[in-house]
Amino acid sequence: MDSPNPMVFLPRMAQIHSDIQQAVKLLNEGNLVGIPTETVYGLAANALNSNAVIKIFEAKNRPEFDPLIVHIGRFKDLEKWTTDLHPVLLQIAKKYWPGPLTILGKKNPLIPDLVTSGLDTVGIRMPNHPVTLALLQQLDYPLAAPSANPFGYISPTSPEHVNAQLGEKIELILDGGESNVGVESTIITIENNAIRILRQGGITEKDLSTFGLPVLANEISTSKPNAPGQLISHYAPRKPLICGDIASLIAQNADKKYAVLAFSKTYHAPIERLLSVKADVSEAAQNLFRMMRELDQSEADIIFCELIPQDGIGAAVNDRIKRASKH
Ligand code: TXA
Ligand code: MG
Repeated sequence: MDSPNPMVFLPRMAQIHSDIQQAVKLLNEGNLVGIPTETVYGLAANALNSNAVIKIFEAKNRPEFDPLIVHIGRFKDLEKWTTDLHPVLLQIAKKYWPGPLTILGKKNPLIPDLVTSGLDTVGIRMPNHPVTLALLQQLDYPLAAPSANPFGYISPTSPEHVNAQLGEKIELILDGGESNVGVESTIITIENNAIRILRQGGITEKDLSTFGLPVLANEISTSKPNAPGQLISHYAPRKPLICGDIASLIAQNADKKYAVLAFSKTYHAPIERLLSVKADVSEAAQNLFRMMRELDQSEADIIFCELIPQDGIGAAVNDRIKRASKH
C-alpha cells in the first residue's frame, strides 16, 4: 500500500452541527451559513447586508440577474418587508406558513436591490423547519437564501450534499437532517386578479384553488432575465438525463452504459433507483434530488427517467425532471 503523501492537503470542509448560536454569530459577522429547510438546504446570509449577500452569488457562481428568496421567522415580518400586499396572498401565507410556499410582494426599500436583482418585488417565505425557524427568530434581519448548490446543479436535500459542493466556501452547515419535502417551494404571485404559479412545489394548484381566484400555472419557459426563476436548465445533473418511455429508451440504447430513474416499477437495469416503491408522489419528491445525485455519481454515462403521476406534488417533480432533461 502507498504511504500517504504528506504534501496532499485535504480541502477545508464546513462543520456540520446544530449549534444555532454559532450560526447567529457567523451571520451577524456577514458570513454565509448552510441552513436546513423542509424543501431543500439553503445558503443563507443577512438579507439586509449587501456585502454578505454578494458572497452568496460568488459561492454559487450565480448570475446577479437571478433574485434570491428572503426567509422570515415571524409572520408580522411579511408586512414589514413588503408593501401593498394583495389580501389574498396574505390569506394564503396565513394558511400555508410555515411551509413550502414563496409569495412575491412589492419590496421594502431596505431590502438591497442585489437581493431582488433590481426587481421591485421580493420573494418571501417562512420555512417549516424547527432549526431554521429557531435561528430566524433569534435574528433581527431576514435571511436571503437560495438553494445551496452551485448554480444550475441539483439542489441539496442533506447537509452532506451541501458540504460536497460548497463545503470549501462556508464554515458551517446547520444540521437539520434530510429535507422532507424534497423539491423547492411553490412560488406565487397575483396578476390580473389570478393566482399565478411561477414555480411548482409542495403547495399545489389544488391547494391554491380554494381562495376564490383562478389559478394559472406557468409552463416551463426559456431563460429570460425578466422572468427570473424560469431558467429552463436548472436542477440538472452533469450527465445527460433523458426523459421518456424507459423501456423504449433501454431498447434503443442497449450498447450504452445507462442508469434508470423510475417511479415505482423496476426495469431490472443494473444501475437503477425507484423514486417510490409504493407509488407515492410525496415520497418520490423526497427522493428525487438524492437519487439524481447518486445516478450522476454512478458509472453510467447517461440517465433514463420517466415522468410520475401529475397529482399533487407530482407536478413539481415532473417540472424538475423536465428541466433536468433540458441540458
Ligand atoms: O424552497 C425554496 O424556495 C428554497 C429554500 C432554500 O427556501 N430556495 C430556493 O431558492 O429554491 P432559489 O434561489 O434556488 O430559487 C428561487 C427562485 C429563483 O429561481 C428566483 O429567480 C425566483 O425564486 N425569485 C426570487 N425572487 C423573485 C422575484 N422577486 N420575482 C420572480 N422570481 C423570483
Ligand atoms: Mg435553486
